[in-house]
Amino acid sequence: MLVQTPPMGWNSWNTFGENINEQVVRDTADAIVNLGLRDAGYEYVVIDDCWSMRKRDENGRLVANPEKFPSGMKALADYVHSKGLKFGIYSCVGFLTCAEYPGSFDHEFIDAETFAEWGVDYLKYDFCYKPGRADGALLYHRMGLALRQTGREILFSACNWGREDVEKWIRSAGAHIYRSTGDIGDNFQSYKEIAVSQFNNLAYSTPGCFNDIDMLICGMHGNGNVALGGCTEAEYRTHFAMWCLFNSPLMIGCDLSKIDDECLALLKNKELLSINQDIEARPPMKLTRDGDDRTVFFRHLSNGEYILAFFNLTDCDRTMYQGLFDVGLPYDGGYGFTGYEIFTGEKLEGERERVIVDVPMHDCRLFRLKLTKI
Ligand code: GLA
Repeated sequence: MLVQTPPMGWNSWNTFGENINEQVVRDTADAIVNLGLRDAGYEYVVIDDCWSMRKRDENGRLVANPEKFPSGMKALADYVHSKGLKFGIYSCVGFLTCAEYPGSFDHEFIDAETFAEWGVDYLKYDFCYKPGRADGALLYHRMGLALRQTGREILFSACNWGREDVEKWIRSAGAHIYRSTGDIGDNFQSYKEIAVSQFNNLAYSTPGCFNDIDMLICGMHGNGNVALGGCTEAEYRTHFAMWCLFNSPLMIGCDLSKIDDECLALLKNKELLSINQDIEARPPMKLTRDGDDRTVFFRHLSNGEYILAFFNLTDCDRTMYQGLFDVGLPYDGGYGFTGYEIFTGEKLEGERERVIVDVPMHDCRLFRLKLTKI
């Protein structure tokens, strides 16, 4: 299976936007290896919009912009592959891409062939400039067929921003991940809105096709194409912890030549990645009923452990409380939870009633727990 667990990698859009070029891609591939990100599981190097010429060639084929990509896409894919990484590119269901380069409408099969010839392993497929009456689902089906037809294994990343009840049909179209939200910006409010909008759609993220809640902003610090002021260290931590807990793909969006040590450590955090990459990919259960700002989730892991996650999305520090009866623990059942909080190391020993924890503003606490006899 191509995506047994959420795909991980890097995408050019958040930082570079239309200023993408071959050197950036090569440097990023080098950095993914040199910073230990490949060993942590980051695998795909994806070029987003703005890589092509404004017109197709005389045979109707897409052409890479030779000023941005002088060696051509095939050579670039070869380079990325030589680093033990995979190569991704971008197109769109419509006449044009979102930045108004040629889209794949009515060219699905020829474009899929071109991508396969170049050695593409991943296609992000956007939703702009769709012909008025065309059915969105049908257009994703078309590209799904076209990619399969190439015989090359290409991860199909649908990006229709959650329109047309996408979670109900996107698996049938052959997609491996699907964007369920609008575009992320680099600040707390932006990712909070995205995360909250998917609180009730977490069960739609499963092996074979994961709910993509957009690229990561960790490490951007207010720079780049989707800069919106940046986040604090706690805010980036909460962002990454949510994306991991929610089984989202993890596509880094910052400039890896400028990444700070805290964000690099966060992106390589073994505890969080083991949750995101858990083979069973069970959705977390949302426990709080009093709004979304103080939210607790409980998640089963395949090794018999559990995650109890507290997110304080309010604008002040809070003491948060969770009764364990609500996660299925009978008070007199003879069992309690034992384990630790993954950021602070705080311990729980045979707790059977409740967990109470201080969570600073915009921060999170995640306990990794086991059931023990008490
Ligand atoms: C849309 C997508 C973004 C990005 C841009 C490129 O807005 O949602 O992720 O791909 O298009 O133009």
